[in-house]
Amino acid sequence: MERHCLYIATFLLIFHIVQAQNQTGFISVDCGLPSRESLYNSRPSGLTYTSDADLIKSGKTGRIAKEFEPDVDKPIMTLRYFPDGVRNCYNLKVTRDTNYMIRASFFYGNYDGLSANPNFDFYFGPNLWATVSSNDTVEEIIHVTKTTSLQVCLVKTGLSIPYINSLELRPLRKNMYVTQSGSLKYLFRAYLSSSGRSIRYPDDVYDRKWYPVFARNPWKQVTTTLNVNTSTLYDLPQGVMATAVTPLTENATLNITWTLDPPTTQFYSYVHLAELQTLRANDTREFNMTLNGKYSYGPYSPKALKTETIFDVTPGQCDDGACILQLVKTPRSTLPPLLNAVEAFTVINFPQLETNEDDVFGIKNIQDIYKLNRISWQGDPCVPKTFLWDGLNCNDSDISTPPIITSLDLSSSGLIGNITQAIQNLAHLEKLDLSNNNLVGEIPEFLADINSLLVIDLSRNNLSGSVPPSLLQKKGLKLNVEGNPHLLCTTGSCANKEEGGNKKQSTVVPIVASIISILVLIVALVLFFILKKKKSSSYIRASAEPAIMIKNKRFTYSEVMIMTNNFQRILGKGGFGMVYHGFVNGTEQVAVKMISHSSSQGYKQFKAEVELLLRVHHKDLVSLVGYCDEGENLALIYEYMANGDLKEHMSGAHNRFILNWGTRLKIVIESAQGLEYLHDGCKPPMVHRDVKTTNILLNEQFQAKLADFGLSRSFPIEGESHVSTVVAGTIGYLDPEYYRTNRLTEKSDVYSFGIVLLEVITNQHVIDQSREKPHIAEWVGLMLTKGDINNIMDPSLNQDYDSASVWKAVELAMACMNSSSVRRPSMSQVVAELKECLAYENSRGGASRDIDSKSSIEVSLTFGTEVNPTAR
Ligand SMILES: *[C@@H]1O[C@H](CO)[C@@H](O)[C@H](O)[C@H]1NC(C)=O
Ligand SMILES: *[C@@H]1O[C@H](CO)[C@@H](O)[C@H](O)[C@H]1NC(C)=O
Ligand SMILES: *[C@@H]1O[C@H](CO)[C@@H](O)[C@H](O)[C@H]1NC(C)=O
Ligand SMILES: *[C@@H]1O[C@H](CO)[C@@H](O)[C@H](O)[C@H]1NC(C)=O
Ligand SMILES: *[C@@H]1O[C@H](CO)[C@@H](O)[C@H](O)[C@H]1NC(C)=O
Ligand SMILES: *[C@@H]1O[C@H](CO)[C@@H](O)[C@H](O)[C@H]1NC(C)=O
Ligand SMILES: *[C@@H]1O[C@H](CO)[C@@H](O)[C@H](O)[C@H]1NC(C)=O
Ligand SMILES: *[C@@H]1O[C@H](CO)[C@@H](O)[C@H](O)[C@H]1NC(C)=O
Ligand SMILES: *[C@@H]1O[C@H](CO)[C@@H](O)[C@H](O)[C@H]1NC(C)=O
Ligand SMILES: *[C@@H]1O[C@H](CO)[C@@H](O)[C@H](O)[C@H]1NC(C)=O
Repeated sequence: MERHCLYIATFLLIFHIVQAQNQTGFISVDCGLPSRESLYNSRPSGLTYTSDADLIKSGKTGRIAKEFEPDVDKPIMTLRYFPDGVRNCYNLKVTRDTNYMIRASFFYGNYDGLSANPNFDFYFGPNLWATVSSNDTVEEIIHVTKTTSLQVCLVKTGLSIPYINSLELRPLRKNMYVTQSGSLKYLFRAYLSSSGRSIRYPDDVYDRKWYPVFARNPWKQVTTTLNVNTSTLYDLPQGVMATAVTPLTENATLNITWTLDPPTTQFYSYVHLAELQTLRANDTREFNMTLNGKYSYGPYSPKALKTETIFDVTPGQCDDGACILQLVKTPRSTLPPLLNAVEAFTVINFPQLETNEDDVFGIKNIQDIYKLNRISWQGDPCVPKTFLWDGLNCNDSDISTPPIITSLDLSSSGLIGNITQAIQNLAHLEKLDLSNNNLVGEIPEFLADINSLLVIDLSRNNLSGSVPPSLLQKKGLKLNVEGNPHLLCTTGSCANKEEGGNKKQSTVVPIVASIISILVLIVALVLFFILKKKKSSSYIRASAEPAIMIKNKRFTYSEVMIMTNNFQRILGKGGFGMVYHGFVNGTEQVAVKMISHSSSQGYKQFKAEVELLLRVHHKDLVSLVGYCDEGENLALIYEYMANGDLKEHMSGAHNRFILNWGTRLKIVIESAQGLEYLHDGCKPPMVHRDVKTTNILLNEQFQAKLADFGLSRSFPIEGESHVSTVVAGTIGYLDPEYYRTNRLTEKSDVYSFGIVLLEVITNQHVIDQSREKPHIAEWVGLMLTKGDINNIMDPSLNQDYDSASVWKAVELAMACMNSSSVRRPSMSQVVAELKECLAYENSRGGASRDIDSKSSIEVSLTFGTEVNPTAR
């Protein structure tokens, strides 16, 4: 890990902030507080909390059970819960470009008397912030606002009813706690003290909550009654800095440990230090800081009664997610290390951009003016797509630009009053439908200024006056004003009827009056679609870079085109799309898999998984060299496997030579090792889901590697040989238990691997309707009951194999396919067994052994009940 860029923050403040700063800019919301009780000073903090009644229209108010009240501060005692709707959102007014600490508290306290366990999602605007699954949860982030509004949403994910107790926003100074990308999510904030007392406002001017940590650590408390100079950028509380710990024993290191979940999470730590002891002239305190045993900063001596903060400008990571920060005494130091306080944050990305600010402003205005009380009209109007507001359509196809509202349908919504000016803010509107309402007044001119508008439907209202000429003259616009009896038309193209005449008449205004203009429209549409199509197929779109990706493995689409020489050589068709041959750096051969993405959900997962896969390296796994992510063009770039897949070789499609038994064993051992690594070497374990002979690839040296792992979660596997997207996998290889229960475990891969083994042994099709038993496992089971090994084995091997070796392999395959997944061996057991098979084969010395020698082999695995082989 590169962690050499630590530096000391010796921030000399230009404006020296004197103590007792006040709570300017704090937003303190007590959710569920009745609005008449609004505004109170919470003790002991003295902060003023207000009711949430003005910030949200939905939800019900509740109160935690009496027995919990002594445990909590007043803002926690009431809460708001949301039995109705899926997403409910708070809308907060904030200051733009401000570094806020945002804290939300979820304290169940049996408010509903159900003693339930919560489980719901908490969103920051359109992005997932946290899943609340504990009955006492506090979530905190540090985030720089980009606009003047901020939304947090509670989202139902099951039966559990979301609730929230308090929302607190504290503006911080700009450079406090910075991250290179994304925002910071609170991990811990500790001061090292045995006091047992937490510290917050007013001691902490930013209302950070400091928890004392001491516990059973072999530490000695050091405190001072003198004043510690805490005037740094971080403005730490006196109570936090005036206490510290040192190890009990002179030479011991001072350890702080924590874990990260998921293990690859990036984090930042902030170590706050000040010397509290009066050192004698011959004393020195000096130490180095290490993270997971690697040097990160030092040698360092804390300054007497003066605060300094050490942090890294780049985020860190810990192997397996287990971090240990150590302060290690240097040899010349006469005193042990000392530590006052430490904070840590993880990096949280909010990749989904919020809807265009003007559009949001416009649609909210429209909502207010027409008093639209639709339950879905909360939170971001466009994203995430699942929560798109009723009646809206948006374009969010380009992830690097904010989504825009392209269509607004408020037909039959009981609208009264005039056509509101607020519509003008929806500058990207293509379709506006206000038909079948009670709108009155004139048709406003501004509609003609919305350039993108193609369709306006104002039919069946009570509009009056005349249709503005600018609208009538607007090219390519389809306007329907039918069923407005008092509407007058001013141009010849509008059939003008006298007011008071035929009341029922329908005044269709054929703006597209002549055939010529219809033709123009058609031509325009055709052009539009051609251009659109062209764009998606060959245009190179410059999309912004999602920060979560590792840059140097990322290729542009034009690089991919060069790499593949314009997609010249097709290697095959994979589960997700075409695969092409290519070169990276002119020499390294690669296979480029183009992927078509349809759902944005899948796409987001794609990015997350690619990031994960780029970190997975094992000699028995086909490694991902890079990827391309440019608009519509998604590609995965893998190392090239010159000898194709195992299935081709088994079927003789390569037609060069028969793989002998020893080579087959070597291939399955390597594949098994790859799978073992996915199961046991990856944290969290990865289930392949689609283990089969076409996913075992062979390189020039016939070394086998497992391909296509890790993606099946986000991409339903296509192709006729596959079953539904709910249960991914390939027919024949699919674990019946997984199919039945829909519960996926590593043992499902073990089942599929058993099928692969049988294929290698028998060289039979997995499903063959012409066989006595169509499925290979059943067929082998049947053959075994007849004790007929020769009929099981691939005849092209010409009985050139060690029979003990093949018996053991058959037994292993059957064990892998045990109908009960718990009784299947693990992949490491499989690897061990297969190595024994290979040992038998190698010890044969070339000559075929007698079939009867099988009796000398021990059975180490129990058999499945489903196929009932009576092999011996
Ligand atoms: C709070 O701060 C503001 C601006 O910093 C100042 O105008 C105000 O007087 C302060 N109030 C108190 C009670 O200190
Ligand atoms: C959380 O659940 C535990 C176990 O059910 C219970 O003992 C505890 O009181 C609950 N706490 C809150 C705040 O609801
Ligand atoms: C505290 O430290 C700052 C920065 O070094 C310095 O400007 C300030 O004068 C110090 N304050 C006191 C009370 O010593
Ligand atoms: C600490 O280390 C020093 C130097 O390595 C050694 O002289 C001393 O005896 C050690 N002290 C203890 C208590 O182990
Ligand atoms: C601190 O870490 C060191 C090295 O990893 C270890 O030897 C020592 O026991 C740890 N100390 C404590 C108190 O855990
Ligand atoms: C440091 O000096 C003090 C007197 O100021 C003396 O008592 C002590 O032994 C000295 N310690 C060392 C390690 O020299
Ligand atoms: C502390 O860091 C310095 C500077 O890198 C290094 O020379 C020294 O060996 C380190 N000491 C310890 C005890 O790790
Ligand atoms: C969405 O906007 C992009 C430009 O940002 C455009 O290329 C694309 O055609 C639009 N999609 C639709 C369906 O209008
Ligand atoms: C709104 O409608 C009323 C009634 O038709 C009309 O008098 C008024 O001028 C309209 N206002 C606007 C801004 O169009
Ligand atoms: C429609 O508007 C006219 C005035 O423009 C008014 O006289 C009439 O009552 C309205 N009709 C309905 C059904 O609201």
